Amino acid sequence: MGTLCHLRRLKTRLVSDFHSWCTLQAPNAGGKLLPRIYVTRRIPPDGMKILRQSGLCNIEQWDSDEPVPRSELLEKVAGIRGLYCLLTEKIDAEVLDAAGPSLQVVSTMSVGYDHMSLEELKKRGIRLGYTPDVLTEAVAELTVALLLATSRRLLEAVDEAKNGGWGTWKPLWMCGYGLTGSTVGILGLGRIVPLDELARHSDFIVVCCALTPETKGICGNSLFSRMKDTAIFINTSRGGVVNQEDLYQALVNGQIAAAGLDVTEPEPLPTDHPLFKLKTCVILPHIASATVATRNAMAALAASNLLAGLQGKAMGKEVPL
Ligand code: DGY
Repeated sequence: MGTLCHLRRLKTRLVSDFHSWCTLQAPNAGGKLLPRIYVTRRIPPDGMKILRQSGLCNIEQWDSDEPVPRSELLEKVAGIRGLYCLLTEKIDAEVLDAAGPSLQVVSTMSVGYDHMSLEELKKRGIRLGYTPDVLTEAVAELTVALLLATSRRLLEAVDEAKNGGWGTWKPLWMCGYGLTGSTVGILGLGRIVPLDELARHSDFIVVCCALTPETKGICGNSLFSRMKDTAIFINTSRGGVVNQEDLYQALVNGQIAAAGLDVTEPEPLPTDHPLFKLKTCVILPHIASATVATRNAMAALAASNLLAGLQGKAMGKEVPL
């Protein structure tokens, strides 16, 4: 019985290996071998449709909502011409070496590219596509949602209503800060304003800058200690720009009124993290771009970038290296 099962497993394995070999080697209508690409996740349908209908590549995919294990990624990239990835995959020398000299384009379905070793890509002459602009509105909407959730204490209020804290109507209960007439300081947009000036004049500070070695931990005590004690801090960019220890202290000590975070370091933030214990901190699981239309637009742009790169054409959106 054991041997029979083993033989069946072996047969299944051989058939599936043969099948994937066929997929990889399949020629196009003209009998030419198509370049192989690897897609590191199940992606929104608009992106997959563009890749499939192009007839320009043979697609292999990690067809799951969960990230591809690193060992699988390293194995699958060997000999590919194009890599379609997400912000969850660290694309560094190890991955690029595993891919080998055939790799000519990497396309990330994200506006941020701090998960990429730009130096390593540049060294190897590999082009990089990304997806700015198409998610701007969705991120802006979520930023406003976080502004309101924190300033009007929405999550706290929902908890009170559910858990019996809602007594009679009280003039001083659950008061927050309104948005009307307030000043929003955006860190990482427009002209360069000294940090302490931005901190002193803003009722809300919204972080909007990319994570680079220069911006790592830029939002720390020196910013929070200069903010008004009624001010609110919002981050929808990358968790790494914030010193979370300092943020925690600023909230606990009442240096600032509240914080709204869509991004943290690490992600996911462990559920026992001290920031989760604070009523003044609203934390979302990195959903700023999560509308169906936006994720489809990101997937489609990443797909077209990849195809353009494979053909040596100009990409819709390319990171200059
Ligand atoms: C990006 O694209 O970098 C965003 O963080 C995804 O929402």
